[in-house]
Amino acid sequence: MRRELICTGAATPPRLAVRGVDLPHPDAGEVLVRVQASSVNPIDVKRAAGYGARLLGLKGAARFPLVLGNDVAGVVESIGAGVKRFAPGQRVYGLLGTGRAGGAHASHVVVPQDFLLPAPGDVDPTALAVLPYSFTTMWLALRSTGIRAGNARGARVLIHGANGGLGRLAMQVLQPWGSRVTAICAKGQRQGCLDLGAEVAVEHDPSCIPSLPTMYDVVLNFANWDDDGLLASRLHAQAMGQATTVHPLLANFDRLGWLSGAWASRRDQRRVRAIVASRAPKARYAWTIFKPDQEALAMLAEGVEARRLVLPVGITEPFDTAVAAFNHVSAGLPGRAVLLP
Ligand SMILES: NC(=O)c1ccc[n+]([C@@H]2O[C@H](COP(=O)([O-])OP(=O)(O)OC[C@H]3O[C@@H](n4cnc5c(N)ncnc54)[C@H](OP(=O)(O)O)[C@@H]3O)[C@@H](O)[C@H]2O)c1
Repeated sequence: MRRELICTGAATPPRLAVRGVDLPHPDAGEVLVRVQASSVNPIDVKRAAGYGARLLGLKGAARFPLVLGNDVAGVVESIGAGVKRFAPGQRVYGLLGTGRAGGAHASHVVVPQDFLLPAPGDVDPTALAVLPYSFTTMWLALRSTGIRAGNARGARVLIHGANGGLGRLAMQVLQPWGSRVTAICAKGQRQGCLDLGAEVAVEHDPSCIPSLPTMYDVVLNFANWDDDGLLASRLHAQAMGQATTVHPLLANFDRLGWLSGAWASRRDQRRVRAIVASRAPKARYAWTIFKPDQEALAMLAEGVEARRLVLPVGITEPFDTAVAAFNHVSAGLPGRAVLLP
């Protein structure tokens, strides 16, 4: 029997219930994982309230009751045909894409073997369960700006939302690459960002972005769409690029429907792209959308093996009190939220 945490309808706070269903079976190339820990990310809280229904509905990922969650850490229960890299009893962690099959908030999930990694023996499932989704999204954002290990030394990188999950992971990647990070962070979080290798850390307030110098090679916006244009104005003429994970794509479709939503998104993207181009004609500008990615998973595995990637956990809850974990995330309380089935 599989226990799954379901959202029964769009609501804030989320309307959650636990139900039992038949245990799924792994098909060829898939692995059945007994879940020890999964995380609640900001997207789960938003989807529980109905966010993204129109666009995610295209993938069959918006129909209630919904099983949310993209991160999984646990133990291999059984394997499908052709699975060579994993065996029953092995500890693993990894990712589920957002789709029809549902998410990771369950006692057992079927995961494509390509989205799974072997877990290092001494790293707790709770610590692993908070990494894959956030790291993958952060990696996609970094990659889309054009920065990489080979050109990052000395590059000046501005991170908005630096004390959040994506921001912390970006600093943990950029610090060993030798980049010079300016962190825009929440009140009281400056020292934490400096400890993670930021050269400069400033608390966010309405005047902080305009007062920064126009010297950045790369801008990462993990915090606030409304600041995207202002952030772009801090790029210098030879900058590499800017990426934002907080774009209004899904919200535009939810709010305005297919045609007007597409039109508004095109307009929003063009507006900031024009600012980027006016500052730095060769710079890239990208809206990041999470999806499982082999390169990101390989880099995650490397960082975890080296004990370089860590996100603090703020709350762990069993399914029966999962609403507390969702509330923790929606209140923006420090540390990630983990569910223990
Ligand atoms: N597009 C995608 O596929 C995708 C995938 C993953 C994540 N995301 C989004 O990317 C963002 C970052 O994710 P995360 O996991 O790092 O979130 P997180 O841990 O909640 O961190 C968010 C950070 O942004 C800051 N922030 C939020 N609202 C702000 C505002 N209005 N002005 C200034 N700073 C603000 C927060 O500061 P405070 O503590 O002061 O609020 C915090 O530092 C989230 O919005 C998430 O939903 C998108």
